[in-house]
Amino acid sequence: MPIPQQLKPSRQTSDTDYYEIVQSAAMATIIPGLRTPIWGYNGTFPGPTIVQNPGRTVVVSHRNDLPVPTVVHMHGGTTPHDSDGYPTDFILPDAKYGTFPEMPAMAGMPAMTDPEAIITRQTRDYTYPPQPRAGTLWYHDHRMDFTGASVYRGLAGFHITHDTEEQALGLPSGARDVPLMIADRAFAADGSFLYPALDPTMRSTPGVQDSYTNGVMGDVILVNGAPWPVMNVDTARYRFRILNASNARTYQLALQDASRQSVGFTQIGTDHGLLAAPLPQDAIQIAEAERYDVVIDFSRYKVGDQITMVNQIGSGSTAVVMRFVVSRATSDGSRVPSRLSTINAISPNSAMTRRTMKFHRGANDWTINGRLFDPAYSEADVPAGSTELWTIISDFRHPFHIHNATMQVISRDGQAPGPYDQGWKDTVFVNQGERVQLAIRFSTFKGRYVFHCHNLEHEDMGMMANFRIV
Ligand code: C2O
Ligand code: CU
Repeated sequence: MPIPQQLKPSRQTSDTDYYEIVQSAAMATIIPGLRTPIWGYNGTFPGPTIVQNPGRTVVVSHRNDLPVPTVVHMHGGTTPHDSDGYPTDFILPDAKYGTFPEMPAMAGMPAMTDPEAIITRQTRDYTYPPQPRAGTLWYHDHRMDFTGASVYRGLAGFHITHDTEEQALGLPSGARDVPLMIADRAFAADGSFLYPALDPTMRSTPGVQDSYTNGVMGDVILVNGAPWPVMNVDTARYRFRILNASNARTYQLALQDASRQSVGFTQIGTDHGLLAAPLPQDAIQIAEAERYDVVIDFSRYKVGDQITMVNQIGSGSTAVVMRFVVSRATSDGSRVPSRLSTINAISPNSAMTRRTMKFHRGANDWTINGRLFDPAYSEADVPAGSTELWTIISDFRHPFHIHNATMQVISRDGQAPGPYDQGWKDTVFVNQGERVQLAIRFSTFKGRYVFHCHNLEHEDMGMMANFRIV
């Protein structure tokens, strides 16, 4: 199983680490014997992992060598608005690909009229101040109307933040702290990704063919860019940072031993870092863009044993994710302490502003409170640093994601939060017909940000809205 390379800083000052990434087209070998054209950060899928250490500012200089505009969003970040990857803050391609998107009315493309758009030629620096908590964050493309198609081609990577609270715990670390990016893809016979875009060049008409309005799924499960990989492990504890980077597929992940008995794992973290205490789970439901950190203790096994990660809601080829093979007996100094982190539960009170967001299915599009995404319209103006109570109402399955904020699930249909709702989240799965109440704590960075469905086809087909931190 491949593990994405950790990116090395190109230079460092007393408080800042500088990184450079080139977004480029490349060829990857994903299906044995075939070549797959990808778009990758530094030409790789997944992109290189960025590690942000406590107290450090990270500046990533992105250069766009792709034939279309791009936008980089660091998902889960606490980020000034001009580095957040607003969907119209484009990094333009090389001039040889045209002057677009300022060029009005290219075949079906609305003229770019967003007055607040930042349009940068080919290179742009994104600044990420020290992050409030250790966590498994990730970065991916966020171009308005084309996020699904761009991420599907490979524009996604990990951004892992550490803090001193976590570093003192003795959790599995180093080679036993492993990010797993799960993503499904469909392939054409020649090895290329099959994405049913209306315009495969991604230069004019946004969206997918009507029959894919619900979202694009594939029949091949990739982990870190490899199909159904095998990972050799020691008889020791491992921490896995599981990210669902799929466009539209939700998984229910479980572990099975050779006799197909479910063996369970220990959840230690979620989107924004560690839980208060370890939580034993038989399975984990993980929607698009969610992260769950789990510890698997392979010291229960002997060399030669095999453990399979399955997807209990998949069928056929999508029912299996990957396999662990215990291949070396070792000792293990790691621990999973019974207290992991301090998480102060938010209790709703009457002074909190309450808002309701209706996620609704249109004809061949998706709306929030009856609107398609419009850069010029703000759905909510919230005071910096405030906490609000939002109720998400949905007539389909949608992972709700909000930028530059962190949330706790207060209730589902008036009942207590579900088994996967613990801890600080930035993406929360809302089931069909469900009403989910969230306490959302906004950062103190002011400006325009978005919230949206993280089914990327739903997002591209309108299910996104602005809020402003004021
Ligand atoms: Cu992972 Cu607004 O996105
Ligand atoms: Cu959705």
